[in-house]
Amino acid sequence: MAPEIMKGLKDVYLDTTESSFIDGQEGKLLYRGYNIHDLAEKSTFEEVIYLLLYGALPTVSQLQEFDGILRANRIIPDEVIQILDLVKTSHPIDALRTGISALAAFDSDVNDNSEEATIRKAVRLTAMGPTLVATHHRLRQGLEPMAPNPNLNHSGNFMYMLFGEEPDEETTKLLDVDFILHAEHGANASAFGARVAASTLSDLHSAVVTGVGVLKGPAHGGAAEEVMKMALDIGNPENAEEYARKLLDSGGRIMGFGHRVYKAEDPRARHLRERSRKLGEKMGHPEWFQILTYLEDKVMVPYRSRGIFVNVDFFAGSIYYLLGIPDDLFISIFALGRIPGWALQCIEQYNDNMLIRPLLEYSGKMDLEFIPIEQRG
Ligand code: ACO
Repeated sequence: MAPEIMKGLKDVYLDTTESSFIDGQEGKLLYRGYNIHDLAEKSTFEEVIYLLLYGALPTVSQLQEFDGILRANRIIPDEVIQILDLVKTSHPIDALRTGISALAAFDSDVNDNSEEATIRKAVRLTAMGPTLVATHHRLRQGLEPMAPNPNLNHSGNFMYMLFGEEPDEETTKLLDVDFILHAEHGANASAFGARVAASTLSDLHSAVVTGVGVLKGPAHGGAAEEVMKMALDIGNPENAEEYARKLLDSGGRIMGFGHRVYKAEDPRARHLRERSRKLGEKMGHPEWFQILTYLEDKVMVPYRSRGIFVNVDFFAGSIYYLLGIPDDLFISIFALGRIPGWALQCIEQYNDNMLIRPLLEYSGKMDLEFIPIEQRG
């Protein structure tokens, strides 16, 4: 009897987790038991990293110490800067993947998969990630890389290293919230990829490189970049209807809509929707938000009954764009937020490991006669 094929592993439970809870019907997301709405509104990315890696929200003194460790670990080796220089013409997400891989060569814990060492590496990768992205971005523009600024928080320092000047408080907070919203999401494709790597007892750097590679695709982390490209193509709210109709009628998809798990609105989207609106008004560019909400409130309404709503990436791109971040950096920003989540998934995998190795039902030819090469016509 033919086995039941669980295509795309849809609705398959791989294991148990204490990382995040997702109710796709209700549109509910918890990290380690805490509602994403509370975390987005009341915490900081540094607190969320701590929560994910250590399982509890930090006290004031724990956070102070942890933040100090993060700030002290932002500098990347000169050799890695040279490697980023050699690949400066590549897409930023490819450069980030290369940079993380290169960092392994300089990490003394690289092959230690104990929980303590994996957390140490996760902290270092989280701290160094923004330096990799900002360094590559400056090198490709022919600019000197900026040294990390230990007086700024994680998101503020990232913007500082990208643009060479200290961001205002609002920009820092926008990016902080964005990092929080992207930090962890169960067995999503990139975390699953990272888990598969960890399940072979490969190291965290390899697992994170896998995660970055999987995230790159437009069906996953690449959506924010595609949404903004679409908004730019539409150009004006009046063109949105016709553009979207043509795209949908020809079998295309509106990027930033739909989700494998959420059949209600992605709870992360709400925090970016309001911020995208406010930022657009403040910057004198309300048109991007108007285009996006036209798509959401008019064009895509019939899709709601099929469980297709906006996802986290729908409004993210417009925020990055308004902050002056080039669209090819969007996926890297997602990756920087997700490093703690990938690390947590790997820690869980190491702690109760079983090699992840599914089956494929063979559908090809059988028992063919082997013909020597000189007799093949
Ligand atoms: N626009 C139009 N139709 C859509 C969309 C969309 N964005 N998403 C899904 N659909 C339709 C499909 O065409 C399909 O219709 P059909 O049954 O008539 O063939 C149906 O909904 C189901 O789609 P699947 O691709 O089978 O569903 P799946 O769960 O595999 O899709 C996915 C999830 C890949 C995210 C999909 O919704 C999509 O391609 N969205 C656009 C890309 C995107 O925004 N990705 C980011 C996801 S969030 C994240 O990774 C952080």
